[in-house]
Amino acid sequence: MSAPADLDHKATTPFDPPRAEAAAMAGPVYLDHNATTPLDPRVGEAMAPWLGVRHGNPSSVHSFGRGARAAVELAREQVAELVGGQSPEVVFTASGTEANNAVLRSAFAGRDGGHLVISELEHPSIHAAADRLEGLAVDVTRLCPGGDGVVEAAALAEALRPDTRLACLMLANNELGTLQPVAEASAACRARGVPLLCDAVQAAGKLAFDARALGVDYLVVAAHKFHGPVGAAALWIREGAVFEPLILGGGQERRRRAGTENVAALVGLGACAALASRELDGRIERLGGLRDRLEAGLGDIPDARLHCASSPRLPHTTHVAFSGLSGEELVVRLDLAGFAVSTGAACASGVVEPSRTLLAMGVAPAEALASIRISLGTTNDEAEIARFLPVLAREVEALRGLSAAPAARAAAG
Ligand SMILES: Cc1ncc(COP(=O)(O)O)c(C=O)c1O
Repeated sequence: MSAPADLDHKATTPFDPPRAEAAAMAGPVYLDHNATTPLDPRVGEAMAPWLGVRHGNPSSVHSFGRGARAAVELAREQVAELVGGQSPEVVFTASGTEANNAVLRSAFAGRDGGHLVISELEHPSIHAAADRLEGLAVDVTRLCPGGDGVVEAAALAEALRPDTRLACLMLANNELGTLQPVAEASAACRARGVPLLCDAVQAAGKLAFDARALGVDYLVVAAHKFHGPVGAAALWIREGAVFEPLILGGGQERRRRAGTENVAALVGLGACAALASRELDGRIERLGGLRDRLEAGLGDIPDARLHCASSPRLPHTTHVAFSGLSGEELVVRLDLAGFAVSTGAACASGVVEPSRTLLAMGVAPAEALASIRISLGTTNDEAEIARFLPVLAREVEALRGLSAAPAARAAAG
């Protein structure tokens, strides 16, 4: 983390009418990159021929097919380089959700019962797949993180049993950005012969990692989280690890995922992987600097509490609670004011539920409901953060005033 930025926004960004006008004309500011990221124009350029003049089924033997095959295999190499594996170990899927589901299904395919260990921090694609397995007589252990948003590797090691068929620990959490002790967990899993799935969807493009060095058996990345297209993701499967395909049909992806390849999307995945490999250090430094600037400014808002601020974290994710208000309402007001952020809360049947992740950490439901996530991206800049902070402070104050008013009226009589 770099040193906190100057808190005096007026000093660092003097009021400048032409610039303020330009900012207003620039349109809404996107601060929700953990939900999805805008396509990098260079990725779009790489994909464009495959959405236009170039086409072909990679399984066809003619020149069109061979061209498509070459493009898909280049993408495979680019992804392998990003995750630190060999290209034959990379299986393309349509989403991170599909890849996670495939691994959970595979681990329990064709056998009744058994035991699965997951962390409470995992993405819903793992929770929902685990819930379904539980309905099929699989015993599921769910590990809670500490108040620091980190699951202890020792707790995972202790949870392993002779009948454990799979453990899941994500590399970085999507709500908090906290990094998990995956290498330690994988050492414990290896010692017990238990394969480990690592969901690295939020880490790719924001953190240097190497699947082999992490010692995991399966690792997942998704293009749309690091400036690639939606509809392209990759499941890295360590050579020799067991895998039963989820989708059956043709022999694509070495019989590990049937279906004609989405060449344009995979070219996009390869391109964003190549850019991330090349530009990672600069991105980490830039995003970390913006995040520090943001968090220093949040310190000026009364009763703002950062979640997991001193935990090892991704460089671009901030989760903050503002006591006495509704995070959901704050998100709506910020949206109207031109800033896109999110809550970690899930909205089921019109009722906003507190974030499962925050509750698992021991955060009180009221505080969980008063939290928002701000996730930065490569297109954000200092000027946007400087514009955002006073608007956030104003909306927090306004919402607190609204929620205090009925109580004051009631007290008055
Ligand atoms: C940690 C994590 N895993 C998996 C997914 C699912 O990826 P996809 O959107 O590609 O299905 C997400 C998406 O939000 C995520 O944040």
